Amino acid sequence: MKLGSRREGFSNKLGFVLAAAGSAVGLGNIWRFPYLSAKYGGGIFLLTYLILVLSFGYALLISEIGIGRMTRRGPIGAFRKLCAHHKSFLGSVRIGGWINALVPMIIIPYYVVIGGWVTRYVVALACNPVSGFHKDVLATVEGKSMPASAAYFQNFITSWQESLIYFLIFLIITAIVVACGVKKGIEQFNKVLMPMLVILILGICIYCMFLPNAGAGFKYYLMPDISKFSYMTVVAAMGQLFFSLSLAMGIMVTYGVYMRREDDLISNVNQVEVFDTGISFLAGMMIIPAVVVFGGEKAAENAGPGLIFVTMPQVFASFPAGRFFGTLFFILVLFAAATSAVSMLETNVHTVCQELGLSRKLSLAYCLLEILIIGTITVLGYSVLSHVHPLSFIEKYQSFDILDSLDFISNSVLMPIGAIFTTVLIVAVIGLERFTREIKNGKKWYRQYLYQLCMCVIVIPCLLVVLLNAVGILK
Ligand code: TRP
Repeated sequence: MKLGSRREGFSNKLGFVLAAAGSAVGLGNIWRFPYLSAKYGGGIFLLTYLILVLSFGYALLISEIGIGRMTRRGPIGAFRKLCAHHKSFLGSVRIGGWINALVPMIIIPYYVVIGGWVTRYVVALACNPVSGFHKDVLATVEGKSMPASAAYFQNFITSWQESLIYFLIFLIITAIVVACGVKKGIEQFNKVLMPMLVILILGICIYCMFLPNAGAGFKYYLMPDISKFSYMTVVAAMGQLFFSLSLAMGIMVTYGVYMRREDDLISNVNQVEVFDTGISFLAGMMIIPAVVVFGGEKAAENAGPGLIFVTMPQVFASFPAGRFFGTLFFILVLFAAATSAVSMLETNVHTVCQELGLSRKLSLAYCLLEILIIGTITVLGYSVLSHVHPLSFIEKYQSFDILDSLDFISNSVLMPIGAIFTTVLIVAVIGLERFTREIKNGKKWYRQYLYQLCMCVIVIPCLLVVLLNAVGILK
């Protein structure tokens, strides 16, 4: 789908769901969700996440797609158009559009860094015998003994030349796709590759069920343990929800633009939501029991962004034809990451193009420069700049490195602010009744009251609590 071809619309309903789900499914589901649920207590995180998806996620997804379909404009234009007749406070709600457009610019540099890690692991698994990653093989890094796969990851991210090269490779792939406008081609590929990814993940889940002691791992992932609940569970789950459903970053508003009036927005939203959450759930099933089996609950609680890179090679080391399946797995993840990175870059280019009135080529160059600078700093955050902790002024984030900090600022601070603006726009500027009618478009809508309840009384207070807690004001 090219952003220039506004009026084309989607040829059929499946087209919309595949496009929205295709860009929604990415590293968020496979890399981010599992490590967060391992870290924040397994079952309790999963439960919190599911509740939030069904209330918040649902309300915000409908709102954003609805705004796009109603105004036929991207986030900045939509906010501007709707606020145009208002002076004073309501007129200033229009800055919400800018916040929504800013978020993907912060996310994409570190998304590309992780894309680079995935690229590295395609090569690593293709070129090395997987037995070297077996959980019982130990290695020593800086005097500390650890599993070989953890040492491998540690050595990779701390060697800045190597990580920089893979970051650049992934960036160049993304840039070529956007520059040549061959996104359609990639999406064609994805129709085959994404189902393959799902099947492979399912296969690995089944395999993990038969690992010795798997019961303890499944219990950790599926049984909520209330004693592990804290505010941070909600903050993390909320951030993950925004990230995974690509909310509060203008993406869904842009998708709404392509949706035809006669399409059934609500059932589309349901499908996107179920699909996205289903994949996250499966990814958790694939990784978390394995982490608990290999390293115990402690290892799960200490999980960080390296989780899939440390644990999956261990799984493949004991897997039949592990080298082949391991390589295939990372290739498929690479594709999922690349399509998301391409959508994100394309959105940024479009924003710069429209708002600064630059040519597409020049806008692309600016966006690439931005990714290059921030991405390089992020990569160096694990080696040359490892003493830099940007959020050290807040006690609980003292250990955050540069990647963690960018991730935190976009997902836990800017996105809630963006979502608050979207909610104010609907409730106060457009009017909830009018917007509900517009969404319904004469069709039945069973969860209408849930939607209205969320928008009126739940979303804003909850987001404020999350926000205040995230920035350390509320404990
Ligand atoms: N939702 C995507 C994922 O789960 C990530 C993402 C964030 C994204 N922002 C985006 C994808 C913008 C496409 C466009 O990985």
